[in-house]
Amino acid sequence: MTKPHFYITTAISYVNGPPHIGHAYEAIAADVMARFKRLDGFDVYFLTGTDEHGQKVQKTAVAKGKQPQEFCDEIAALFIEMCQQMNVSQDQFIRTTSQFHKDACQAIWGKMQDAGDIYLNKYAGWYSERDEAFYGEDELEVRPDGKKVAKSTGTEVHWMEEESYFFKLSSYTQKLLDYYEAHPDFIQPSFRKNEVTSFVKQGLKDLSISRTSFDWGVKVPNAKDHIMYVWVDALTNYISAIGYPEDKQGQFKKYWPADVHLIGKDIVRFHAVYWPAFLMSAGLPLPKRVFGHGFLLTRGEKMSKSVGNVISPQDLVSRFGVDQTRYGLMREVTFGQDGDISYELLGNRINAELANNIGNLCQRTLSQIAKNCEGKVPKPDILEDADHQLLDKAGQALLIAVRGEFEKLHFSRAIEEIVHVANAANLYIDAQAPWTLKKTNPPRMATVLFVLAEVIRNLGIILQPFTPVAANKILDQVAVAANARDFSFMGSTHALQPGTALPAPAGVFPRYVDELQEKTA
Ligand code: MSP
Repeated sequence: MTKPHFYITTAISYVNGPPHIGHAYEAIAADVMARFKRLDGFDVYFLTGTDEHGQKVQKTAVAKGKQPQEFCDEIAALFIEMCQQMNVSQDQFIRTTSQFHKDACQAIWGKMQDAGDIYLNKYAGWYSERDEAFYGEDELEVRPDGKKVAKSTGTEVHWMEEESYFFKLSSYTQKLLDYYEAHPDFIQPSFRKNEVTSFVKQGLKDLSISRTSFDWGVKVPNAKDHIMYVWVDALTNYISAIGYPEDKQGQFKKYWPADVHLIGKDIVRFHAVYWPAFLMSAGLPLPKRVFGHGFLLTRGEKMSKSVGNVISPQDLVSRFGVDQTRYGLMREVTFGQDGDISYELLGNRINAELANNIGNLCQRTLSQIAKNCEGKVPKPDILEDADHQLLDKAGQALLIAVRGEFEKLHFSRAIEEIVHVANAANLYIDAQAPWTLKKTNPPRMATVLFVLAEVIRNLGIILQPFTPVAANKILDQVAVAANARDFSFMGSTHALQPGTALPAPAGVFPRYVDELQEKTA
């Protein structure tokens, strides 16, 4: 039986500096989704990478006394390392300076030209190098220091006048509005869809899509002084990565259109307006969904070096560990909205849910099995109502609830469903008190510990997308075979075999102790 396909992408990151927490956040979210879908029986393709062209990258390289390519190689290596560090399981890390990608950009340009959508003219207007974006006068404001900035991003704009190729975006206004109406789930969350729709309703202007004042980019076919606007180049990564246009390996046919482009709220316009218009022009299908997540903040503010509130991905990992960082970020912030993070918030969450709740459940259950059941999966006696209720909650019902939340990319609520089950299991262990049953009713003790081991097996399976290493350690501890860990094994039909020997229990989610707190305690 062929598996259904699922193609997920992150934005590709600019290489003008090393990765920060926003990059890690997006990569982790996409990874959680990709892992979930793989475990749920999908043939997943997961793409991430770096966006290496444009004026900003060229200038940063020059300022550092490097050749642009050399500079890109160095920074791209840091992004690849960040993905490894965060245990991100991408199928491909694309770099836009790769030749195959440049070829694909020229191919889509050719298609848009064939469609009659590209013409030569002169551009005169405001441009933000930081955003690599053009702004209309109505989108700008003058700061007290006299600098002209984009209202939406606060970045400085400069007047730009040069010969440029234009894309006839204006002729896509109605087509895009019709598309949004016919595909209500295309832009998510819905409040971002409303923002995009009102922007498009004002009427779209043609878009300048080539530059002549610098040369770090993909050459426009048959126009030697022009390089492509970096967004035409960058957005094309989603199809060049899977083989467009030649599709020698059939991946484009298999995976396109993408199921979801996961991006930050600041670049929704590029993905929900420009990209679909380019694709329509080139006669290609549109992605199924564009999801704009929020920004991570500290104390309600954007992280910035000058404010001194930057939390780096490395800081988090060295404090909490990789799995805990992944869990904390996905749990603490409602995906889609901006959210505050701090060491304290994450530390408290990790302690309350991973250490005290899930970790403790595993520890209590497995140590009693080790002591009182010869370290083997106990043999259950007759199951009582309370046993059935807990097993039902932890099996198919949990999978269905979590799957429902994943459909909406509600990662925090998906975790909440898991935590509810762990809570219920901790209440059950307290109520059943297997440590007392040991003397009064050993067969009942065995039943209770069996039920708990089963709950732990199901929790281990469903936790894998969030905490892949720890979840697999949990599954090792209840001796689940490596090929019995996907979601089809959740529920009672694949229950643990009584009598199976279990390894010695070992904690998987240690309590996080703030070193400073400890010193002052
Ligand atoms: N190169 C473009 C994307 C091209 S996609 C065809 C770009 N790069 S970026 O490096 O500036 O941002 C990469 C991603 O990180 C974007 O989705 C952006 O929204 C996200 N984030 C950047 N800062 C962020 C936070 N502080 N919090 C969460 N995500 C943020 O834009």
